Amino acid sequence: MIVPHPVVLRGPRIQLRPVQRTDIAQLRKLWANRHVMSHLGYPKGIRLSKEKVAAWVSGLYRDCDLAVNPYPIVVTDHGDHFLGEACIGQMSREGVSTLEVKLLPEHWGKGYGREALALLVHYCFTHLRIPALQATPAVTNLRAIRMVEALGFEPSGETYDWVPPRALRKTAVPYQYTLFTLPRARYAERSATSQSRPFSAIQATAPTAP
Ligand SMILES: CC(C)(COP(=O)(O)OP(=O)(O)OC[C@H]1O[C@@H](n2cnc3c(N)ncnc32)[C@H](O)[C@@H]1OP(=O)(O)O)[C@@H](O)C(=O)NCCC(=O)NCCS
Repeated sequence: MIVPHPVVLRGPRIQLRPVQRTDIAQLRKLWANRHVMSHLGYPKGIRLSKEKVAAWVSGLYRDCDLAVNPYPIVVTDHGDHFLGEACIGQMSREGVSTLEVKLLPEHWGKGYGREALALLVHYCFTHLRIPALQATPAVTNLRAIRMVEALGFEPSGETYDWVPPRALRKTAVPYQYTLFTLPRARYAERSATSQSRPFSAIQATAPTAP
């Protein structure tokens, strides 16, 4: 499934846009933050050199096929101030993509996470027509769990263990997560009922031409 790059999505208070070189310092700050990254198995954060992040940024969006690559995106306010990062995950063979949102802690608790996720859900189902979305918050990450539930994601009822790959064992630790899923049909049903408030409040703009 090809993402028509560049994607720009605007909500009432935030914007999602492709990652740029000018985001490197803020991305390094976000990834190095232990309060953010501890929810993802990195209790001390991840410290990456400018060069490493620059190399990552310059390799992005060469192939915007979700079957092969994820599509990372930056969360900003309408003044283009960096709030965090989000991602439409690489699609599984079954057509499922995992969504993720990470914000700098100074921006937590203001509803930006929920707005970012709502924009992504709307875009993935309405524009990309992805069959199903999932989210994998740690069982202890109550804020993220409330965020995904607010958007209609439902828990599978099972918890899973995330185990860091061998190469990351110095910085990463295992954690348990719950699998939440949202099939497109459920989204369509919710959108047609009064439960659709989180979706209908958000208008994603069509992607702009390069
Ligand atoms: C998860 C994250 C993106 C949420 O963003 P946010 O802007 O803080 O979230 P929101 O303000 O939209 O709030 C989400 C919900 O959490 C609730 N919440 C806030 N603080 C909470 C707390 N300490 N415990 C439980 N719930 C809390 C809010 O009330 C809201 O629920 P509601 O809409 O039902 O009232 C953000 O906290 C973050 O970046 N965390 C670190 C990275 C991470 O965990 N990413 C998720 C990986 S799946």
